[in-house]
Amino acid sequence: MAEPHESRVYSDFAHLYDQVFGRVFVDHEHDVIQSLALRPGHRVLEVGVGTGISLGAYPPYVKVVAIDSSLEMLEQAQAKIKENDWRHIELVQGNALSLDFPDDSFDVVCAFHVISVVPDPRRAMTEMRRVCKPGGRIVIVNHFRSENSLLGGLTALINPVTKHLGWTTLLRLRDVLQDNSVQVERREKAARFSVHTVVIMRKQG
Ligand SMILES: C[S@@+](CC[C@H](N)C(=O)[O-])C[C@H]1O[C@@H](n2cnc3c(N)ncnc32)[C@H](O)[C@@H]1O
Repeated sequence: MAEPHESRVYSDFAHLYDQVFGRVFVDHEHDVIQSLALRPGHRVLEVGVGTGISLGAYPPYVKVVAIDSSLEMLEQAQAKIKENDWRHIELVQGNALSLDFPDDSFDVVCAFHVISVVPDPRRAMTEMRRVCKPGGRIVIVNHFRSENSLLGGLTALINPVTKHLGWTTLLRLRDVLQDNSVQVERREKAARFSVHTVVIMRKQG
């Protein structure tokens, strides 16, 4: 069976993404970005930006570099940038598992609904931590498998379906939080009754 990142949602059907998934994700992504209180001059990397539903939340006084592996998703994001004349945002095709940036490059590194899509989530975390400056923040929003065996088991049952749609339901938060060079500063539900979790980590200096 195809892996989540190979889903046609991120290629042939990229033009439908905003209507189907984007409307579910957009509000909590904007809330999280606003809660970061970004300051003038901050450099932000967004990994797996997709069609760019988050981009409108970044203030114009920060510099945003946003990457994705899918050209079709990036085309949708580029249209938003052009329409809104967002000169503070740069799009680059790239791989979350091998980020093409030097160590300690960004004040904030975000990944929204990406860590359960990439084929090697731990590698993606290692890369995000590498390019984050010491003292900088790594911000994840994602669905994680419940530690409750009944709930976790139920969501695991639908994994064959969600894999086709483009994500796994098997990933646990603890699978990606095994590095003690980051400190979890915030961990909470994206909204009341949400199945998505916000995790904000600080890279130790
Ligand atoms: C569920 S979408 C999330 C998009 C966006 N962050 C959002 O919240 O709407 C997952 C995205 O991860 C991208 N992706 C998958 N594997 C990737 C990789 N190895 N490197 C970079 N992006 C990747 C896909 O192309 C897709 O745009």
